Amino acid sequence: MHVQPIDLPEMTTQVRGGKYVVRGGVTLRGAIDISGAKNHALAAMCAALLTDEDLILENVPDISDVDSLGALLVSLGAEVERLPNRAVRLNCRQVNIFEAPTDLISENRASFQVMGPLVARHGYAASAPPGGDVIGQRPIDVHLSGFEAMGARVIREGERFVATAANGLHGARVFMDYPSVSGTQNVMMAAVLARGHVTIVNAATEPEVQGLIRLLNAMGARISGSGSQILEIDGVENLHGTTSRIMPDRIETGTFAIAAVMTGGDVELRDVPTGVMDALLTKLRSAGAQIDESDGMLRVRREGPIRAVSFQALPYPGLATDLHAPMAALLTQANGVSIIHERVFDNRMLYVSELRKMGAEIVSTGSSAIVSGPTPLHGTRVRALDVRAGAAVLLAAMVAQGTTIIDDIFHLDRGYERLTEKLTALGVEVERN
Ligand code: UD1
Repeated sequence: MHVQPIDLPEMTTQVRGGKYVVRGGVTLRGAIDISGAKNHALAAMCAALLTDEDLILENVPDISDVDSLGALLVSLGAEVERLPNRAVRLNCRQVNIFEAPTDLISENRASFQVMGPLVARHGYAASAPPGGDVIGQRPIDVHLSGFEAMGARVIREGERFVATAANGLHGARVFMDYPSVSGTQNVMMAAVLARGHVTIVNAATEPEVQGLIRLLNAMGARISGSGSQILEIDGVENLHGTTSRIMPDRIETGTFAIAAVMTGGDVELRDVPTGVMDALLTKLRSAGAQIDESDGMLRVRREGPIRAVSFQALPYPGLATDLHAPMAALLTQANGVSIIHERVFDNRMLYVSELRKMGAEIVSTGSSAIVSGPTPLHGTRVRALDVRAGAAVLLAAMVAQGTTIIDDIFHLDRGYERLTEKLTALGVEVERN
C-alpha cells in the first residue's frame, strides 16, 4: 500500500514562535472568503477511522491543527492526502496501531476524538490526555464515562488512558455530566457502531456537532435528534466512505466581523455559515454595528460610536466562548462599562494581561471581566497566549497607536487560515517574521 502522508513542510505546529508586526490605525475595508471550520474539520477527520473506504472532505482549512491531526492519523497507519482546492482524502483501511503517540496527541484537543472510533471499531484504544489551549481544566471524564456506559473498560496506565471492548460496544443510555463538544462527538462516533440503541442525554448542540452528525449519517450511521440535547443512535455494522463539505468557520467569521466593527470599517464576509450566529450578531448590533445578512454573505459596518454591551460566553446557541476574547478587545473601544461572564472554561482570561499592556482598562475576577472604555490603545510587544487570546491582541493592534509586535503567533496558525493574506486584503499593514 502506497501511503501518501500530508505535506510535511506545511506542518507549522512544529515551528514554535513567529511574530506579527502590525501598524495600528487602520479601517478595515474590502471582502474576504471565510475558510472551513476548524472544529468541524478535525472531528470529521477522526470519523475517517470508522470506515475502510475513502472519506473525501472538501473545504478543509489549511491550518496547523489539521496538519497535526493528519500526522497523528498517518502515525496510526492512515493515508491522508491533500487534494487540490482544499480537499483532503483519508483512508483508514490500513490502520493497525491503536495508540496515539503522545507528542501528536498533545498538539491539540480534538485529537482525543480518535479514541471513540478506535475502540468502537477495533476494541482497543490508548492515548495520553489531549493538549490544546491552556484555557482551564479540560477534563475528559465525559468521554470516558460514555465509553464505559457502552461496555468499554477504561483504565489509566501511567500517563495514558486505555479503553478496551473486546466484544464491541453495546447500547446504553449515556448521560453527559456537561454538554462537552468533543465529548459528545467522541461518544457519538463510538456509538454509531454499537450493538443496539444508544441515547445520549445532555449532548452538545454546537453547529459543528450537527455537522458531524450529517457526515456520519452520510456514511451510513443512524443518528437522530441533531441540534437537540438528546441524540438517539441505532448502531450499524459498518460505515462507508463519502464526500462531504466542511461548513464555514463561525469563529473566523465572528473574529472578522468584530474587527470590522472595532475599526469602524465596512467589510463583506463571503461563504459564512447561515443561521448559527444570532448571539454574536445581536451583540454587535447592540454595540452599534450595521449588519446585512444575505445568502451566505455578511456585510458588517459601523459609523457611529461603539456602545458598551455585556455578555456571557455560553454553550451554543449562546455566544461562543471562542469569541469571548475578541469581543473583549472590541469593548475596550466602547463607551461605558461592559461586563463579561465566561461560563464554559475556567481560564479564558489570558488575553487580559496582554490587552492591559496595550492600555486597556480591564479588571478580571475569576471567570468575569469588567471592561471600561473607550481607552486609547498603544502599540507594544505582546504575546498570542492561545488561539483566541491571539485574535484579541491582533484586533487591539489594528486600532492601537503605533506598532504592535505579537509573539508566539503559532497559536493563531492553529485556527486561522491564510491570516496574513486576509488581513492584508482588508487593508491591515501586517508583516509576518
Ligand atoms: C471545543 C472546541 C473549542 C471550544 C469548546 C467550547 C474543538 C476541537 N474545540 O472544545 O474550540 O472552545 O468546544 O465550545 O472542537 N468538560 C468536562 N468534562 C469533559 C469534557 C469537558 O467537564 O469530559 C468541560 C470543560 O472543563 C469545559 C467545558 O466542558 O469547562 C467545555 O469543554 P468542551 O465542550 O469539551 O470543549 P472542547 O470539546 O474541548
